[in-house]
Amino acid sequence: MKISELDNVKSQGTSMDRINVLPDEGVSRFDGMDILSVKQFKHRDLDIIFDVARDMREMVDRQGAVDILKGKLLSNLFYEPSTRTSSSFAAATQRLGGNVIQINNVTFSSVSKGEELRDTIRSMGSYSDAIVLRHPDEGSADIAAEVSEKPIINAGDGIGEHPTQALLDIFTIVEELGTIDGLTVTMLGDLKYGRTVHSLAKLLALYDVKLNFVAPDLLKAPTALVDSLIESGVGPCKHVDLDSIISETDVLYVTRVQQERFVDQSVYEKVNRSYAVNVDTMDIAKERMIVMHPLPRVDEISRAVDKDPRAAYFRQMEYGMYVRMALLALVFGKV
Ligand code: ASP
Ligand code: CP
Repeated sequence: MKISELDNVKSQGTSMDRINVLPDEGVSRFDGMDILSVKQFKHRDLDIIFDVARDMREMVDRQGAVDILKGKLLSNLFYEPSTRTSSSFAAATQRLGGNVIQINNVTFSSVSKGEELRDTIRSMGSYSDAIVLRHPDEGSADIAAEVSEKPIINAGDGIGEHPTQALLDIFTIVEELGTIDGLTVTMLGDLKYGRTVHSLAKLLALYDVKLNFVAPDLLKAPTALVDSLIESGVGPCKHVDLDSIISETDVLYVTRVQQERFVDQSVYEKVNRSYAVNVDTMDIAKERMIVMHPLPRVDEISRAVDKDPRAAYFRQMEYGMYVRMALLALVFGKV
């Protein structure tokens, strides 16, 4: 159902509490769903999310906001820094007519008095209708989901996953290049600690892609991830340098070294600045290649690349808001 049609339903006086007009199991399966890992998605789910995300973009262009989430309250609970995930979930909720409880700095909450995650989740769940959680521990979103009666959306659990980022990453590729099948995707950077890489690589395995991994020795992808990708038939091919494969790459996905994950900062210093994308890289890349980055960028993509139309990382952020609007509308059973 189009968002414009939602407006019509509302003006005919239908309750906005629960619009059940689509008898499609595919859509209703999202109602009340936790979003913890990309492993829970099938190809068909992504098509549904992206269709709704396109409707959301049209709606925002046309009128900026609707009120299908009127009366709904989202908790944004962030134990780690965030600009995009936190703000885009807040923007998404507000553009759909809902409200947000924002906890960006847990040191000002009872977490600093030693409150356990489970109890904080129970508290936020008693005030709000869904919880977006970012936490430094891998598996924290699963723990939250075990005790929560409200849907939990994993906004990054340590080095584990960042599923909504992967959804917006795939959406970016589809919108920018028209397809995923047949593409060569090269992931560059911190493949060991980068949770966006872990989620995206797994999700790409649903498609017919060729995956390349380029990383310094100390930042190689975990063996379990590589093994599961091999099992799914997408590789990955490991390369030592970007130059050898840049000319065959359709999507270059760059990540920063995840400094906060290093116990020993001297090890971080060894790998910091060990790779970079610059105008020389772009000179030998395909004319239709896109460069993506989940952001924040530190210095792994030179600022001179920002002017290149193939630099998709700022557009990628905007796609993220539409995807998160779609997810919220689906999880709250409003499409
Ligand atoms: N913002 C992304 C994350 O939280 C990537 C990064 O921080 O480098 O995983
Ligand atoms: N991409 C991403 O997760 O950005 P933030 O860390 O700013 O939320």
